[in-house]
Amino acid sequence: MFNIAVVGATGAVGEELLLLIEEYNLPVKKLVPLASARSAGDIVEFKGEELRVQELTCDIFEKEKIDIAFFSAGGSVSAKFAPCATKAGAVVIDNTSYFRMDPDVPLVVPEVNPDDIKFWKKKGIIANPNCSTIQMVLSLYPLHQEFEIERVDVATYQAVSGAGKKGMEELFEQMRAVFNFNLDKKVEEREVFPWQIALNVIPHIDRFMENGFTREEMKMVNETNKIMHTQIEVAPTCVRVPVLRSHSEAITIYCKKEVSVERAREVLENFPDVKVIDDPAHNKYPMPVIATNTDYVYVGRIRKDLFRPNVLHFFNVADQLRVGAATNAVRIAQKWIEMEKKGE
Ligand code: A2P
Repeated sequence: MFNIAVVGATGAVGEELLLLIEEYNLPVKKLVPLASARSAGDIVEFKGEELRVQELTCDIFEKEKIDIAFFSAGGSVSAKFAPCATKAGAVVIDNTSYFRMDPDVPLVVPEVNPDDIKFWKKKGIIANPNCSTIQMVLSLYPLHQEFEIERVDVATYQAVSGAGKKGMEELFEQMRAVFNFNLDKKVEEREVFPWQIALNVIPHIDRFMENGFTREEMKMVNETNKIMHTQIEVAPTCVRVPVLRSHSEAITIYCKKEVSVERAREVLENFPDVKVIDDPAHNKYPMPVIATNTDYVYVGRIRKDLFRPNVLHFFNVADQLRVGAATNAVRIAQKWIEMEKKGE
C-alpha cells in the first residue's frame, strides 16, 4: 500500500485524479491532497470521505512519507517542488511540460512505451505527455506499426479544460453573457484566452515561437517522437474551440507502405484503450459528447487519400482531463506499482 499525494488537488485535473485513483483501485494507504495556501483547509472527497487540503510545502512529502506524488499545478510548481518529493523518496508523476523533454525523465503513454518507466530512477520523475499528444500517439502507434508513418499533418480542436478550471469558467461566463446580451463586457473582463472563446475558435494555444509554431504545437512534434522512439515529421495546427472537455484532432498520415482502411480499422480496434466509431451511413463518428467522461480514444472518418495510396485521413477524440491527463497518469502509476512489486 502506498501514501499518495495529489499536488493541485483542487484543480480540474486534480479532481479527476482523485476520482480515477479510486476507480482504478490504486493501493492507497493514505491520500494527501495538496494545493496553494489559498485553498488550504478546503475539503475534497476521496472514496466517500472528506479530506482536508494542505498547503504545498517542500517538507510535506517527508512529513507525510509520500511514495507517489502526482503533480498537476503548473510547470513552475513542478520545477520548485518535484525535487522536494523525489528527495523524500517519492516517485513523481508530473502532468506539466516542465520535465518532459529532459533526457533523464521518461515520457510515457503506458499503452505505447511502458518499458521506459524503468528509467524513472534517473531523476525520480516520470512525465505525463501533453494532452493532444497522448490521444494522437494512441492512434498513431498501431498505425505506425502497420504502415510505417513518415509524416503527420494534424489540426486540433482543443477544449477549454486544457486551460484548467479558469478556462472552463471563462467559456461558461461568456456563454451566459451571450444569452444575456452583454457578451462585450464579459469579453473585456477575460483572463485566460487571448480572444473571445464563446462562439469563436482561436488558432493560438500557448505562446508563439520564432519558427511560427506555438509551444503547444512544438510539444506535439517533440513529444510524439520521444514517446514512439521515432523521427516522424509532425506538422500541427493547434486550435482552441468552445468545447468543455474533450479534444478532437483531424489527422493525415503519410506512410512508407500503402494504406488500407480495413486494416487500419482492425489494428486500431485491437489496440488497448482505442475504440473505432466509423459508420458514416448511420452518422456515426467520434465527437466530444461521446468521449467526455470516458477513458478511450475514439477514432473514425477513416479514409484513404483520393490521390496518394500511402496516405490515410482520420478523426480522433478523447476526454482531455481523463485520457489526456489524469487517466494516463494513473495508468503510469499502475505500471510503476507492478514493476516495483516485481522488483524491476
Ligand atoms: P489552488 O486551488 O489553491 O489555486 P487548474 O489547472 O484547474 O487551474 O488547477 C490548478 C491547481 O494547481 C489547483 O489545485 C491550484 O490550487 C494548484 N496550484 C496553483 N498554484 C499553486 C501553487 N503555487 N502551489 C500549490 N498549488 C498550486
